[in-house]
Amino acid sequence: MTAIYPGSFDPMTCGHLDIIKRAAKFSDRLIVAVLNNAAKTPLFTVEERMGMLREAMEAEGLKNAEVDSFSGLLVDYARSRDVYLLIRGLRAVTDFEYEFQLALTNRMLDPGLETLFISTSTEYLFIASSVVREIAQAGGDISKMAPDYVCERLRRKFNEHI
Ligand code: PNS
Repeated sequence: MTAIYPGSFDPMTCGHLDIIKRAAKFSDRLIVAVLNNAAKTPLFTVEERMGMLREAMEAEGLKNAEVDSFSGLLVDYARSRDVYLLIRGLRAVTDFEYEFQLALTNRMLDPGLETLFISTSTEYLFIASSVVREIAQAGGDISKMAPDYVCERLRRKFNEHI
């Protein structure tokens, strides 16, 4: 079965990569779909975010995973790709309300669409893109939170040593 793992990935973290690796194990094909949201001002462009994901997935040798982007509604994108399974990662209880709302809204919009939650590995429980961005901007050590090339991109983006 093909699955979509959607998100902002601004930037991707080790937590995202953990979910991608685990989801790729049980799906025939995994599409990691980056949201292209004109209303938000992300730190990285969609192309940059996709590039980092591609690099990470190549380095892991994930042959059945690909990267794409989408704008508009996720349900429309899933339908356009003929996919009926969404993957989301769950960290702590604090994620639950938002994720539950997302899953139920998507299922209301398209009853054929299921969301499967994968619980994060404990070492990534606290990692969020926003936290990684903040620490990187302040010059802190993010080497355990994001893959090396993501750390390097962040370093270049903020133009300082971490
Ligand atoms: O990584 P994120 O920011 O938690 O991912 C959220 C995402 C991209 C999955 C969600 O915002 C989304 O699907 N946006 C597309 C718009 C949409 O379909 N909205 C209706 C569902 S609430």
